[in-house]
Amino acid sequence: MTSPNTFRIKSFGCQMNVYDGERMAELLGAEGMRPASDGEDADLVVLNTCHIREKAAEKAYSDVGRLRREDGSKPLIALAGCVAQAEGEEARRRSKLIDMVVGPQAYHRLPKMIAAATAGRPSVDTDMPAATKFGALPRRRRSGPSAFLSVQEGCDKFCTYCVVPYTRGAEISRPFADIAAEAEQLVEGGAREITLLGQNVNAWEEGGRDLASLIRHLAGVGGLERIRYTTSHPVNMGEALIAAHADVPELMPYLHLPVQSGSDAILHAMNRSHTADSYLRIIERVRAARPDIAISGDFIVGFPGEAEADFERTLQIVDEVRYASAFSFKYSPRPGTPAATMESQIPQPVMDERLQRLQARIAEHSTAFNRATIGKTVPVLVEKPGRRPGQMIGKSPWLQSVFVTTDAPVGSMIEVAITEALPNSLGGVIARAEAA
Ligand code: 5AD
Ligand code: SF4
Repeated sequence: MTSPNTFRIKSFGCQMNVYDGERMAELLGAEGMRPASDGEDADLVVLNTCHIREKAAEKAYSDVGRLRREDGSKPLIALAGCVAQAEGEEARRRSKLIDMVVGPQAYHRLPKMIAAATAGRPSVDTDMPAATKFGALPRRRRSGPSAFLSVQEGCDKFCTYCVVPYTRGAEISRPFADIAAEAEQLVEGGAREITLLGQNVNAWEEGGRDLASLIRHLAGVGGLERIRYTTSHPVNMGEALIAAHADVPELMPYLHLPVQSGSDAILHAMNRSHTADSYLRIIERVRAARPDIAISGDFIVGFPGEAEADFERTLQIVDEVRYASAFSFKYSPRPGTPAATMESQIPQPVMDERLQRLQARIAEHSTAFNRATIGKTVPVLVEKPGRRPGQMIGKSPWLQSVFVTTDAPVGSMIEVAITEALPNSLGGVIARAEAA
């Protein structure tokens, strides 16, 4: 096989994967390869997979199968991300089409793996080296107005349903100096908003510095106007971070704080190390610091042993928090996790029914949250053109997508008067474009 000239990277799952996908693209670009254009067959395809729920892994294998071309040929195929990490050598046994298996902590070694695969030597690299991959990646150059920046990876919490502690390893914090340098590169490259990423981003720490002090530092970077962070764990939601929401204007009024269930018995079985009540008290303190904050969360329905009464506690906490948005999932047993072998697994039809009720309840609150912005004028960071001619899409401070007809370019900050609210977006008219 000749060495690849073009590549395509498909990222599934969380924002961390989106970030890793961007870094892989930059790495391959630095190696002289270019992204395949639309409709063009890429010489190399990287499937950057997600392992969090069962179907995602199955989907990865069927995606691999579909890469075989009609003439029987195929591109070089790299299986990356969390399925790669979890499956390791097994991935090559399940599909001979896969040339490279590369875990989330090893993708800086892709160029070497590609050279080997081109020479007919497939390889598997799922090492989790102590030194992070970041030092081996090229510097950031161009960026869209809203950029991701990975600051923390891995998880030590071991929720009993979750594969992340196994696929992403122990909690590690990227060095402060690295993060600060990357933030400046991103801003130089065009970013006006940065979202700090981590599986437990609020567990970030370095020698007594915490996420709040990192945010305060980044707020001082000239040209960086908006800072966000995700995903947070309730046990790491410290006073300093809450205080930052009160007095750092660049820190956007949005908090993704998963609770998973409203039932203490289920939270205990999940090993969440918080109760419904302690979670609610955190929300109360966050709202005291920043009254307009949008709260978002994650929920799992049908965790083993979840009785109707437990589920009703979940509906209750949704009502108490009034989430601006939330993701909800049916429990999916993951091999190797403690919950997979727990007794009283919940039948699918019960899970289906609970998921529907939960999503309906969440939608009531998100619709109400969005409606409350009608009549207000809000700052919107323009991110991309919309579908209709002349239409642009941007984000409000509360992470709502806003549709507006304007000739303001991508990357501008505009004031939009909100005129309509849909469940997942807002529409408005231009109130004032930024002075050029
Ligand atoms: N089954 C269903 N949902 C899960 N999540 C994590 N593991 C599982 C699982 N085994 C959900 C949690 C988490 C989100 C990223 O995915 O809600 O917060
Ligand atoms: Fe998984 Fe729990 Fe860690 Fe989140 S905190 S990554 S749900 S183990």
